[in-house]
Amino acid sequence: MDFHCPDSSQNEVLSLLHILTKFEKPIKLLIVEDNEGDYVIIEDLLIDNFINVEVVRANSFAQSQTILASERDVNVVVLDLTLPDEHGESLVLKVLEIAKNVPVIVLTGYSDKDFGIRSLTLGVADYLLKDELNGMQLYKSISYSIERKRIFNDLAKSEQKYKSLFELSPIPMWVYDAETYQFLKVNKAAIKNYGYSESEFLSMGLKDIHPQEDLVKLDQATIKSRLNERKYYKGNFRHIKKNGDIIFVEIESNRIAFNGPEAVLVLANDVTEKLIAENNLKNSEAELEALNAELESRVIQRTKDLTEAYRQLESFSFSISHDLQAPLRTIIDFMKILKDKTKDTISDDLKTCVDYVINSSCKMSSLITNLLDFSRLGKVNVQNVQIQTMDLVVQVWQNLVHQHSEKTEFVLNKLPDVQGDALMIEQVFVNLISNAIKYSSKKDRPLIEVGTRTINGEVSFYVKDNGAGFDMAYYRTLFGIFTRLHDSNEFDGTGVGLSIVKRIIEKHGGRIWAESKVNEGATFSFTLPLA
Ligand SMILES: Nc1ncnc2c1ncn2[C@@H]1O[C@H](COP(=O)(O)OP(=O)(O)OP(=O)(O)O)[C@@H](O)[C@H]1O
Ligand SMILES: [Mg+2]
Repeated sequence: MDFHCPDSSQNEVLSLLHILTKFEKPIKLLIVEDNEGDYVIIEDLLIDNFINVEVVRANSFAQSQTILASERDVNVVVLDLTLPDEHGESLVLKVLEIAKNVPVIVLTGYSDKDFGIRSLTLGVADYLLKDELNGMQLYKSISYSIERKRIFNDLAKSEQKYKSLFELSPIPMWVYDAETYQFLKVNKAAIKNYGYSESEFLSMGLKDIHPQEDLVKLDQATIKSRLNERKYYKGNFRHIKKNGDIIFVEIESNRIAFNGPEAVLVLANDVTEKLIAENNLKNSEAELEALNAELESRVIQRTKDLTEAYRQLESFSFSISHDLQAPLRTIIDFMKILKDKTKDTISDDLKTCVDYVINSSCKMSSLITNLLDFSRLGKVNVQNVQIQTMDLVVQVWQNLVHQHSEKTEFVLNKLPDVQGDALMIEQVFVNLISNAIKYSSKKDRPLIEVGTRTINGEVSFYVKDNGAGFDMAYYRTLFGIFTRLHDSNEFDGTGVGLSIVKRIIEKHGGRIWAESKVNEGATFSFTLPLA
């Protein structure tokens, strides 16, 4: 037999070396060859060219059988086709069976060339002609066989993984024929979710799980997915279970080759419950929105009604007060004339009666005047000017000179300027200071103090006296119109002053409050916009 020397290029040798040196362990070859001379040549070719090779030899099929059974780490079998105990196709089939996953390379004489080629269909990895054999060819064949086997094994493993993924997926999955829509494979989750057995599924088509009215949509989607180069499709469908229930599913599909025909792998995620929950949420949100809108419109309507009622009440009280003034003045004037003209002729009792009528009428008149002032406040707009509060309070104190006695001590602390309606702010200080004068007038040494305090960064004004004070139990009514916490016999008044003050302060966006103890004086505090 004639063996050729390696004639491949240096580069080819290097790239093969690269493949072979990838194997960490030495490559173990079983050479099944009965011819001593041929074996020596093969062994030489191997050892001369590459270092990482371990060679084991078998002289017969029987011996190869023993070696393959005992030495499990054989990487490649190089098989001569003519052995003393077996040859040809029968030998190849037997060796393939015992070699299992180990690639078998057939080494044949020229006379067996045709069978060598045919042996590829039986499952051998390669065939080599002894007459043309050289080192490079031998190692190419060995290394490629090993690499091919490794890739094949990896593929088989990954295919197994995908099979498990398909089978064990909790989401229903199936494969259907892209042409006929026939189910080709379904997983356990599909069987469980849809209620059909595997054989029922495989006897059905995709259309059988779609409502009749959705079939047009299904056809359109299938056409669309076929036209899509990415082979991927995602969409929503309704499916019918075996028990007739309709479910909503999110479909993700991909075209695949499945044992021949073009097929589609489908993942069908049942989103029925998710949709119901979303729908419920949407409905309750819509209900809430409708309720809010209704509430809002009711509030708007009520506010409108209230504002209108308030406006009518104000104009009513204004015109009533105004219309009452004239007849009341007539009564007072005529009573005064009557008193004057009868002063010498009527008894003292009658004179007291006439005085009583005059006093009551005067009181009624001042009540009406105050009520008019209060009503007017609702109509006027607030002017917005800078007010020098110190000067204003000095002026107020001086104007009230006729109300206080010389014994009253007045302390005026530094006051900041404010922003607002000068006449109204003046009214605030007039009412509060005249109250302080009135309710401290019975003290031996009345003391009135005006100043400011800053609490938590908020500046508030105060008017404080050491007078009669009031019972905080009645605080709630303090700022109400016509409410009085003292008897007229003790302190005169109409009970309107504080309600006017409160209204003005609130019109300026401020707050008013008071603190007091009976007989220990009172402090009225309020805020105003500072200039
Ligand atoms: N400085 C104060 N000390 C004690 N009580 C006060 C003081 N200021 C007001 N009050 C109480 O609050 C009530 C309401 O005060 P308000 O100024 O509204 O009315 P009035 O002083 O009685 O009458 P007028 O309408 O003439 O001012 C008073 O009747 C009084 O009982
Ligand atoms: Mg008063």
